[in-house]
Amino acid sequence: MGLFDFLKGKTKDKTPDRLDLGWLKADMHSHLIPGIDDGSKSVQESLEMISRLKDFGINKIVTTPHIMSEFYKNTPEIILGGLEKVKEALKTESIEIEINAAAEYYLDEFFLEKVRNGEKLLTLYKNHVLVETGFVSKPMMLVEIFFEMEMNGYKPILAHPERYQYLAQDKKLLHELIDRDIYFQLNLLSLTGFYSRNVQAFAELLVKEGRIKYLGTDTHNHRYLDALETLPQSKYFDKIQEIPLFNTLI
Ligand SMILES: [Fe+2]
Repeated sequence: MGLFDFLKGKTKDKTPDRLDLGWLKADMHSHLIPGIDDGSKSVQESLEMISRLKDFGINKIVTTPHIMSEFYKNTPEIILGGLEKVKEALKTESIEIEINAAAEYYLDEFFLEKVRNGEKLLTLYKNHVLVETGFVSKPMMLVEIFFEMEMNGYKPILAHPERYQYLAQDKKLLHELIDRDIYFQLNLLSLTGFYSRNVQAFAELLVKEGRIKYLGTDTHNHRYLDALETLPQSKYFDKIQEIPLFNTLI
């Protein structure tokens, strides 16, 4: 082997691995129903993004449009109607993948009212309901809303906890949620530094401490999928594959 071959070998070693998410089985967080939130803008875009997820080895998707009283007034009927359109288009294009829909519920007084009124919520798996909060300050009644959900038979799954500043800065609250057995869903992109260095550091801590029960891509558009291709470079890429995840049970 000449020097040139040796250098070529070295260069090859540094080439990032092709992203393989086959071990994840199901993606539990994404915005792939067109035109109803800040995710996909058209059926065509949805098909392209779903094909890319399939190329990454994902064979099931539970997509989770936002339900947020002021901005995204989605209902189960709107979401499931949109899902049918996506399924039809996938069939027409012969793209084989299992896709269902739940929602990402924003925690506010309107959500609390829904829960108190016993409205049927869309679930990820069994009674698991994906919920999100604002990123900066702790929502009023956070723990109370979780309690009301549990009283009504639902298990709260907190979407991307690593992205909440108020949680990163409040270890007491973090441990209160862990003690209450609130399940955490991590965004894979958080481990790539896609959101920020702080989010990445908090994501790494949660993985290291074994706090994660779900993983998701939170795909909104192609930019997310482009960034996701760098995930194998994360020093936690092997570690996350060892987590016993609900993703694999869906
Ligand atoms: Fe989301």
